[in-house]
Amino acid sequence: MHELRRALRRGSSMETLGLVPTMGALHEGHLSLVRAALEGCDRVAASIFVNPTQFAPGEDFAKYPRTFEADCALLEQAGVHYLFAPTTEEMYPPAAETFVDVPKIGSRLDGASRPGHFRGVTTVVSKLFHIVQPDRAYFGQKDAAQVAVLQAMVRDLNFDIELVVCPTRRDADGLALSSRNRYLSEAEREQALAIPQALCDAAESIGQGDSSSAIVRATLRHDLDAAGVRVDYTCVVDARSLEPVTEVRAGSLIAIAAFIGSTRLIDNFVVPIDEEVAE
Ligand code: PAF
Repeated sequence: MHELRRALRRGSSMETLGLVPTMGALHEGHLSLVRAALEGCDRVAASIFVNPTQFAPGEDFAKYPRTFEADCALLEQAGVHYLFAPTTEEMYPPAAETFVDVPKIGSRLDGASRPGHFRGVTTVVSKLFHIVQPDRAYFGQKDAAQVAVLQAMVRDLNFDIELVVCPTRRDADGLALSSRNRYLSEAEREQALAIPQALCDAAESIGQGDSSSAIVRATLRHDLDAAGVRVDYTCVVDARSLEPVTEVRAGSLIAIAAFIGSTRLIDNFVVPIDEEVAE
């Protein structure tokens, strides 16, 4: 990758490189990141690496869907120029002991529910950034907390890389696309629709002038409880710092993490700066 990067920097063309980091099991959400990268950069690299350090003990690392051949075909079809798909030993040789940690922001939302998760994400993403050396890297808004943690990391460690955040992609019924949706049975998939529905209802209540975070969270909770969904968290926080806010305002992140059966799903929206409600 370093040789390739040097070659792209040589000569007069100075081609820009975009990176789409993934854990594979690709879906239309990933492909929308690839399309954004192809629009914004001369060359595009994708990475596929199911990163063990971002899974807590007892989580789904072993059963995480691995669909390498199908992923390669999708990336090729989409027009990706390079694929970086290292082994675990290449990324974490036995002597490796360095981690990257964003301790405060990284312990909020999913960082609170999944201790060590964001430390694994920031470590692997900084390694990918050093290896691939992209000009821009593309992430989905569905992982809003991950975006906030990575923005802090890029700021604090002076990475000369622009993070591009692309909108959440949804199925026709509103469910946010996720590699973990393939764990859901038909009945669970139906139940999972309570998550986007709860966010829609919260957006509507904000649109009607409810600005109290407590009221917005009560709306989310009511919808999720009514559908029998086991809630991990509902929150109204500042989208950058992930700190709770008592009043919803432009830039507030309204987010849900919930279990459908044993599958943990997340979804969110950010109140737009022009005060119009998303969705
Ligand atoms: O969002 C993901 O798929 C992963 O967290 C990432 C960014 C590829 C790091 O493993």
